[in-house]
Amino acid sequence: MDKLVIEGGHPLQGEVTISGSKNAALPIIAATLLTDEKCVLRNIPNLRDTNTMLKLMESLGKVVEYKDNTVTITSSGKINPFADYNLVSTMRGTFCVLGPLLAKVGRAKVSLPGGCVIGIRPVDLHVKGLKKLGAKMDIAGGYVIAKANRLQGRRVYLGGVFGSSVLATANVLMAAVLAEGETVIEFAACEPEIEDLSCMLNKMGANIKGVGSARLIVTGVKELKGVNYKVIPDRIEAGTYILLNAATRGNITLKGAESAHLMALDDKLEEVGVQMIQEGDCIRCKQLRKLHPVSITTYPYPGFPTDLQAQFMSLMAMVEGVSVITDKVYPDRFIHIAELNRMGANIRREGTNAIVQGTKQLRGAPVMASDLRASAALVIAGLAARGTTEINRIYHLERGYEKLTEKLTALGAKITREKA
Ligand code: UD1
Repeated sequence: MDKLVIEGGHPLQGEVTISGSKNAALPIIAATLLTDEKCVLRNIPNLRDTNTMLKLMESLGKVVEYKDNTVTITSSGKINPFADYNLVSTMRGTFCVLGPLLAKVGRAKVSLPGGCVIGIRPVDLHVKGLKKLGAKMDIAGGYVIAKANRLQGRRVYLGGVFGSSVLATANVLMAAVLAEGETVIEFAACEPEIEDLSCMLNKMGANIKGVGSARLIVTGVKELKGVNYKVIPDRIEAGTYILLNAATRGNITLKGAESAHLMALDDKLEEVGVQMIQEGDCIRCKQLRKLHPVSITTYPYPGFPTDLQAQFMSLMAMVEGVSVITDKVYPDRFIHIAELNRMGANIRREGTNAIVQGTKQLRGAPVMASDLRASAALVIAGLAARGTTEINRIYHLERGYEKLTEKLTALGAKITREKA
């Protein structure tokens, strides 16, 4: 298994191009199940997760060609609506084939994704939403088994204990586009990735109104056509580079990035003392003054994203003073605390809060990556720390950061990938 070796303390400079959004790409790839026509998807990041999704599409009967971040998906003539445990269990994004399979084929057997280190991650909202549209849903042997003739448009309320759900909204939305009559999804997720999926579905001939809002009104159509569609930039990758820039007191420009998708980060960073400036399709950051500690609480969009919580904590660990970090989306997503503390951070968990006592400088140490975004937090800490950091289990990073070592090296980072 490979590890990353980082020699910290070098400010980063130059331009980095932000890849296409992983979390937009996954449901968008799944949406191609809704048509027999050819779909061309551009700006698809070459990541472990997107490749797993494409493998799943092949196993379901699609023909996939992937070259230079463009995926062409055509029909082999028959869809096999069975999503195997071995593919679905490796990442949760694959679960969003359930809605389109059900809508297009009338039946689906999709493995339950299971939990992961960031939480239990139930699928009750997905099941409830699809049931509301008239599907018969059973759970047996670790699989969700769904059947329906033509789904029926209904009012579906998708609010859960932790607010809206991104992938439940994607599943119900993709089922509703081919349902008979009108579906109103209340408490829909407003994440830009769901907005992007809605735009793609409308381009395929769907009729979705309220795109980007918490109330999606879908008038079902009989069929969808093929599409040529470009996926939005990855706001979490962009946010990670912005936080990394602040932590290393660097001077990097993000190309192909959208600050409108990072409103909460922008707001909090201004309090910290960093200004994000959008110039054309680039984001530049300017340090305004000595950095201040700032508390954050994560919420569904447009709140502060849980997928940037660990990276923000990493920055706060290096800003003198106290900040409090609370995650209202995944209240247990704090596994990175112990690893950051190995690098000299002073963070303690108190109930659902992480109390960060920022220190001037972290020190390099061997650490273990536990999940995708926690790993990104360790990369930030390692790049800013004094000395050498070794990050083990880096396969997590390959799930979500395209060409990470190449991009960082081009910015002047001292980072190498070595055999552990
Ligand atoms: C997506 C993102 C993930 C991000 C998360 C929250 C993808 C592929 N993944 O995951 O990176 O961290 O949104 O922004 O897009 N919940 C329920 N019942 C359900 C579904 C979810 O209680 O049926 C809970 C979850 O446990 C969590 C909260 O709702 O506490 C939000 O989860 P959700 O938005 O569904 O996350 P995902 O869509 O799985």
